[in-house]
Amino acid sequence: MMRTKNRILHRLLPIIALFTLTSCEYGRMWETPAVRPHEEPMIVVEEGSVPFSGGEAVYKAMSAEEIESPVSLNDPTVIAEGTYLYSLYCVHCHGRNHDGFGTVGQSFVPQPQDLRSEKVQTTAPGAMFKEISYGIPGGRQPPLATTIEVMERWKIVAFVKSLENR
Ligand code: HEC
Repeated sequence: MMRTKNRILHRLLPIIALFTLTSCEYGRMWETPAVRPHEEPMIVVEEGSVPFSGGEAVYKAMSAEEIESPVSLNDPTVIAEGTYLYSLYCVHCHGRNHDGFGTVGQSFVPQPQDLRSEKVQTTAPGAMFKEISYGIPGGRQPPLATTIEVMERWKIVAFVKSLENR
């Protein structure tokens, strides 16, 4: 008899614990103040919260020809930063020599491109920005917009473009 009681108690314990834990302090509807529409001042949205120039959504909607780089693509500092960023985000597929022979993606169809090739080097910066950001339709270039922030993507574009002059 005792044992059954104990067992029931044991089973109930987590439920009791749950009730005591969840019944802690939080506002009940009849306790919290009722706010009528427009009773409180409107929330002021900070400037830039909804971007209408340069934001990701804007970039995505723009055609490659319309997009212009916000950084100078010939600036050696920008290119140097791009070199480093390439080593973080691109080298594993496009390779240390930028020839497309990285350790990843050799079984991809199509395979990672040689970034020194004429095709890539004649790609407009805006188009390259879009390829890196949103991938290539039907291709295997990963869309990296959510991985690399806008400015860093432009720095990488500057770096890739600088390969032409080597
Ligand atoms: C997971 C592997 C992978 C990573 C990471 C990657 N790429 Fe690629 N990339 C590819 C593959 C595969 C292609 C082949 C073309 C396709 O997708 O149609 C390609 C194609 C390209 C092209 C050429 C597109 C054309 O004109 O044909 C460019 C430029 C490029 N990648 C740049 C980059 C840059 C810059 C980075 C780093 C930010 C990067 N990629 C990261 C796999 C990758």
